[in-house]
Amino acid sequence: MTDIAPALELRGITKRFGDLVANDGVDFDVRRGEVHALLGENGAGKTTVMRIAYGLTQASAGEILVDGQPRAIRSPRDAIDAGIGMVTQHFALVRPMTVAENLALGRSRGMGLDLAEARRRAADASDRFGIRVDPAARVEDLSVGQQQRVEILKALSRDCRILILDEPTAVLVPDEVDALFATLRSLVADGLSVVFISHKLAEVRAISDRVSVLRRGKLVGTVPGTTDDRELASMMVGRPTFGVQRPTDAPAPSAAPTLRIRELHATGANDLPALSDVSLTVGAGEILGVAGVSGNGQTELVEVLSGMRRPTRGSVTVDDVELAGADPARMMRARVGRIPEDRHASLIGDLSVAYNLVLERLDDFRRGGRIDEGSVRRHAEELIQRFDIRAGPDDPVATLSGGNIQKVLLARVLSRDPRVVIVSQPTRGLDVGATEYVRSQLLERRADGAAILLVSEDLEELLALSDRLVVVYEGRIVGETATAAADVGELGMLMAGRGKAA
Ligand SMILES: Nc1ncnc2c1ncn2[C@@H]1O[C@H](COP(=O)(O)OP(=O)(O)OP(=O)(O)O)[C@@H](O)[C@H]1O
Ligand SMILES: [Mg+2]
Repeated sequence: MTDIAPALELRGITKRFGDLVANDGVDFDVRRGEVHALLGENGAGKTTVMRIAYGLTQASAGEILVDGQPRAIRSPRDAIDAGIGMVTQHFALVRPMTVAENLALGRSRGMGLDLAEARRRAADASDRFGIRVDPAARVEDLSVGQQQRVEILKALSRDCRILILDEPTAVLVPDEVDALFATLRSLVADGLSVVFISHKLAEVRAISDRVSVLRRGKLVGTVPGTTDDRELASMMVGRPTFGVQRPTDAPAPSAAPTLRIRELHATGANDLPALSDVSLTVGAGEILGVAGVSGNGQTELVEVLSGMRRPTRGSVTVDDVELAGADPARMMRARVGRIPEDRHASLIGDLSVAYNLVLERLDDFRRGGRIDEGSVRRHAEELIQRFDIRAGPDDPVATLSGGNIQKVLLARVLSRDPRVVIVSQPTRGLDVGATEYVRSQLLERRADGAAILLVSEDLEELLALSDRLVVVYEGRIVGETATAAADVGELGMLMAGRGKAA
């Protein structure tokens, strides 16, 4: 009977963190020679359930079977002994060491390391599994894609038969994704079982035999890998997705634009020119999309508009008030809200959700020189409700999933009713549900009359949300069009610096 038992089976796995149920009776199995994807929104519980399988944390209830036999997995050591390997999102390699040394680490168990032997073993493993690595290279000199190969090889050379990959493509460029998939296909053909965690539908469909979908900690279902994107997306978010889209009504023409930038110049890192002669306007109730390959002045533009970089020349006005060179506090008082590209940099991970929500306006919560904890908390409870943040006021922000972290930022900025919203890459790394949510929030602000400057590398996103688009290339605006009249091919040419104006 054991030959038909799944390689790995999780039965009724439940995991609680305080009141939060991260996994709720999850059943999941992966067969021999199969890629089984685990799909779900940010915070659905994907990482948690697989950390349990790998012994990084223990379930509150449930059992784990390997080849049909119940196994107690209390540590990664137990998991490795049971043939389970996991490549987490943050690699666990020793950076100053070579590839061969890293591969030998788990095996030597305190005994001296025979370098020649370690190199030979690494080269053998590389051949055997068809995964190209240079045994003599130092890990710190490798690209992220190469480091990932070392991690996979490390797991395989410990005789892992069940390989768990937590969002392995998030850190890879498209060519590396293709290479990873080719490697996985050949390993699976040799009998390896793979758990592939992701929230990218196209990838899940490209690589998986079966797909299991988690939603809010519960298993929604397990379906064949051929299931179409619409159905997978609707399982994931609990309703069919229509794709949040800007209404086609034109914004009400206002007498004067809310945000006006005239002949702006700024330097970037190393004092090199980053913005040259940029002029643009954003009206009330309008979303202006800034398209371009990153590194063409977008970062500096956002920094000038949030008061973090002084322009060398030019004017920035909000409702005709001159703000060029203003500091961040003054920008905030002028009701310019900023949702930055780097979410983590503008939040303090160890601090609670409640405090992160008031960080920029602590003075509003002081009573007689002290912070009024009660009102900080009530404020947080209201925003958690309003912005659907799936966390409690006291949870450290670092424990939230990516989508919920973005909601904390949105709540902090949008709850202050900004006149102007400067937003960068708002949905990068977010799943379908969180993406829709973020987009619909921006559209709500648009409907309320805010002027929104949206910087994104995602053309599809810009086309879905913007009323007008400008294209930046090497610090200049090289094109402008109403979205309705936009020609995607032409936008691509402009972004690549091949437009007439460039
Ligand atoms: N150590 C922890 N303490 C408290 N809560 C936690 C902890 N780890 C995870 N959680 C919570 O459990 C839930 C599930 O998180 P998990 O990381 O498993 O989600 P995920 O599906 O992997 O999401 P993502 O796509 O963002 O990686 C989230 O609400 C998260 O905040
Ligand atoms: Mg995760």
